[in-house]
Amino acid sequence: MAVYTKKEQIYEGKAKKLFRTEDPDKTIIEYKDSFTAFNGEKRAEMSGKGRLNNLISCEVFGFLAQKGIPMHFIEKIDELRQLAVMVTILPLEVVVRNITTGSLCKRLGIEEGIRLPRPLVEFYYKDDALGDPLVTEDHALLFGWATEDELRSIKEITLRVNDALKKLFEPLGVILVDFKLEFGKDSSGNLLLADEISPDTCRFWDASTGDRLDKDRFRKDLGDVLGAYEEIWKRLSGDKSRP
Ligand code: TMP
Ligand code: ASP
Repeated sequence: MAVYTKKEQIYEGKAKKLFRTEDPDKTIIEYKDSFTAFNGEKRAEMSGKGRLNNLISCEVFGFLAQKGIPMHFIEKIDELRQLAVMVTILPLEVVVRNITTGSLCKRLGIEEGIRLPRPLVEFYYKDDALGDPLVTEDHALLFGWATEDELRSIKEITLRVNDALKKLFEPLGVILVDFKLEFGKDSSGNLLLADEISPDTCRFWDASTGDRLDKDRFRKDLGDVLGAYEEIWKRLSGDKSRP
């Protein structure tokens, strides 16, 4: 694999920076040490967070690549950076829920901790100023955020990712409660899984203690936030007998 150099920064988000490379179709993604929650209202810097999220995300994407999931991730560069296909992100956050918690419980008055009989897939419109509102597939179609074919592929890939991730985390004593995915299109219009998969974007509960091992520790001030991220990385990197 060719070595790509980091050229000028093209984007800075809440958790990552993107850089151009000598190939217009490839970007270097650098993970930041910043935490944000509630659409950026709550912020903090924690040294080591970017490293852990990059390492976890690389490991998870690598696992999903083996399962044939089409994705922007190409390879890990170092502890903070990964090489990825340049994509245009669709303005949709795709959330999968296996167990009830979070905004679902708040919005609908549903009890927390109920295991759903099948995964629930939800779409949110990606717009911080609006607070990422819940939308229907019809909104996405009518306002041109995704085509019918793209929505069909997104749902199919999302459910495959859920099945694969449950199998990855279960033997590690981690319950995959829910998570958020984003999708993008490359320069040829191919739909690819994008963004990151980390304790920032997933809810992980320890199977034996119920401890929260994800960003809820930051959102709810539960303490030892990075300890939880470290624990996820330790379990992921320690297990070499993957399904
Ligand atoms: P929610 O219950 O707050 O809607 O979150 C559902 C899942 O999506 C949870 O795993 C956290 C993740 N998530 C993000 O990755 N980014 C976000 O902006 C939000 C609100 C949730
Ligand atoms: N990612 C969102 C933010 O940074 C919200 C969240 O994850 O709770 O504001």
